[in-house]
Amino acid sequence: MTSQLINGVELSNQLRQDLQTRVKALTAAGHTPGLAVILVGENPASQVYVRNKVKACEQVGIHSVLEKTPDTLTEKDLLVKIDALNQDPSIHGILVQLPLPAHIDAQRVIEAISPEKDVDGFHISSAGALMTGAKGFWPCTPFGCMKMLESIHYDLKGKHAVVIGRSNIVGKPMAMMLLQKNATVTLCHSHTKNLAELTRQADLIVAAVGVRNVLTKDMVKPGAVVLDVGMNRDEDGKLCGDVDFDGVRQVAAFITPVPGGVGPMTITMLLHNTVWAAEQLNPTVERALQST
Ligand code: GUN
Repeated sequence: MTSQLINGVELSNQLRQDLQTRVKALTAAGHTPGLAVILVGENPASQVYVRNKVKACEQVGIHSVLEKTPDTLTEKDLLVKIDALNQDPSIHGILVQLPLPAHIDAQRVIEAISPEKDVDGFHISSAGALMTGAKGFWPCTPFGCMKMLESIHYDLKGKHAVVIGRSNIVGKPMAMMLLQKNATVTLCHSHTKNLAELTRQADLIVAAVGVRNVLTKDMVKPGAVVLDVGMNRDEDGKLCGDVDFDGVRQVAAFITPVPGGVGPMTITMLLHNTVWAAEQLNPTVERALQST
């Protein structure tokens, strides 16, 4: 068997077209969605991510503000910046790129973002909403994974999903989203015993640990669906995921490539969350759209 690829670039383009329409409606009503991105320091990977996020905003007509600050910025000054953005009516979403320098408490910073502008979905109130099934912002990467499953009409009911990685950004919210769709979820991590034994039972595997080749062909049941959230570099410096792509694609029914898989979807869901944030604050526009 050779897997079918789930193409994150194509799916993103489709979803971004719809977002563009929603942005136009908001803009026509005088409420252009606005995203503020704060980058502290000069982490090269973060610089690339942030640049791509700002570029994507431009593509769909979202107003974006990029605040780059040196890594000497104090936590207090960062909190002051967030407070100003919380008060700014032209800004509907605030994103502080992680990781932050060691002298800054990332969780304290995340909690300072107004929950109504938490487009990353990292605030404790967003996490609580996801946990309890209430409306709220979903973290962009697992949200993008859910959209990819939707695109292949994958019915999660009763399926066994194995998530490798328990981060607050991907693994834990991913497990909650899959659970909400009635999958049986196993959440694996660095202390999990017999990982291969668990993954071999899985109908769906999400690899999200940042370890190259954490999932190999022998660990995958024929016909399984494999989503690769990893972003690593191979020995030649080429971008690769957590999955041994060439091996696993021989047994999986569907697989996401790296690059061109989950990565673009993460950014698309950030745009989605920003547009949604603007619509929540301007319900007349949302209602007008829903009636079309
Ligand atoms: N660092 C890695 N991924 C993310 C993300 O989705 N959001 C933020 N803010 N920082 C990140």
